[in-house]
Amino acid sequence: MTNPLTPPVPPRYEPMRGLALWGEEEKAAAVEVLESRSLFRYYGPALQRRVEDFETRFGALHEVPHVVGVSSGTAALTCALIGMGIPAGAEVIVPAATFIGCVSAVVAARGVPVFADIDESLTLDPAAWEPLVSERTFAVMPVHLNNAAADMDPILAVARKHGIRVLEDAAQACGVRYRGRPVGSLGDAGAFSFQLEKNITAGEGGAVTTGDPLVHDRAARYQDQGGQFFTSRGGERGGTEGGPFLGANLRMTEIAGALLSVQLDRLPPMLTRLRDIARTIRKELSDLDVTWRALPDEEGSGGDLTLLTENRMAARRVVTQLTAAGVPAATLYQGRMVYQNPAVHSGRTAWDTEWTPPSRLRTSEALLGRSVTVALGATMTDDDVAHVIDSLRAALVPAGAAEGAR
Ligand SMILES: Cc1ncc(COP(=O)(O)O)c(C=O)c1O
Repeated sequence: MTNPLTPPVPPRYEPMRGLALWGEEEKAAAVEVLESRSLFRYYGPALQRRVEDFETRFGALHEVPHVVGVSSGTAALTCALIGMGIPAGAEVIVPAATFIGCVSAVVAARGVPVFADIDESLTLDPAAWEPLVSERTFAVMPVHLNNAAADMDPILAVARKHGIRVLEDAAQACGVRYRGRPVGSLGDAGAFSFQLEKNITAGEGGAVTTGDPLVHDRAARYQDQGGQFFTSRGGERGGTEGGPFLGANLRMTEIAGALLSVQLDRLPPMLTRLRDIARTIRKELSDLDVTWRALPDEEGSGGDLTLLTENRMAARRVVTQLTAAGVPAATLYQGRMVYQNPAVHSGRTAWDTEWTPPSRLRTSEALLGRSVTVALGATMTDDDVAHVIDSLRAALVPAGAAEGAR
């Protein structure tokens, strides 16, 4: 049987971002940490403070005063919710088209997910979630999907009106901006992932960003067993200040911190290049009647190239044609909403059933099913870009129409 994840033709270019740019600098940074034998962020024989340096530099780039490096994006979301002080059983509104980690994080923080519609931006519909607000709602989690920002201004306005916290999931959008400001700096907190496919990567990793010192303090404590080392700033052990509480171990390693600091330097030029590539491709195809995904701020995007076909069948045909031409393309999340995952649908968690099955959001399902995204890679050449343009043109113009146009 053929593996449905393996395209018949190998992709013509590596559809990776930070990973595609890995080089000698990453290797040297990792070796330096190995040679110091200080792989733990809070102490070691010759501590390099690589995670701390990364947090400082990440904060500067994202224009926030507080950053906590953690072990994954899911850990970052969990720490941010706990940092905000989520009460047990409180609801968090999440877009129905997202990664399962959003749901896992809400559950890990003892919250209950509530699923909201997306719009043609394929992210949270700013108007759709307000009716879902109840006295149990604690936070809303806009997801900056596929390197493009959600429409934050109206989301923030509704959240302020109802006194709801805003946690930006920027896992897929590190370095992306919305109306001039970095994503992750707009709400009460942001969460980033540094998993293999992300804009910068250490294989695994995550970060919480916030402007609120209290959120920072609680998030930093939680990832460190409630503040075992964090509150003593890596010096003496056991110097916990304030009210201690139990946490988890979600700490980032020094190797990850070192790798991510190198990757961070590569990020701004990479995003500029990818944004230019996406713009060029859209411009070259402007004579065709293409419905591109609506981007609330195209200027700040990190090179999303996603279009909406007329229906699911058409999306499948376009994806098949593109992958056969060596262009890495897919329907986002294979057209499946996060609540269609069996565990999410039945509300099965590791400890108990937590919620009743969510009702289907058919407009959102139809939108996601119509999506075709072309993964742009950081090392794409101009020839690769030309190939994507030609392949998209061939896939989007039915053979008969192309004949007729001649
Ligand atoms: C939107 C979104 N949120 C959260 C996560 C979770 O990140 P991680 O895999 O690092 O836990 C991901 C990862 O793919 C993601 O895409």
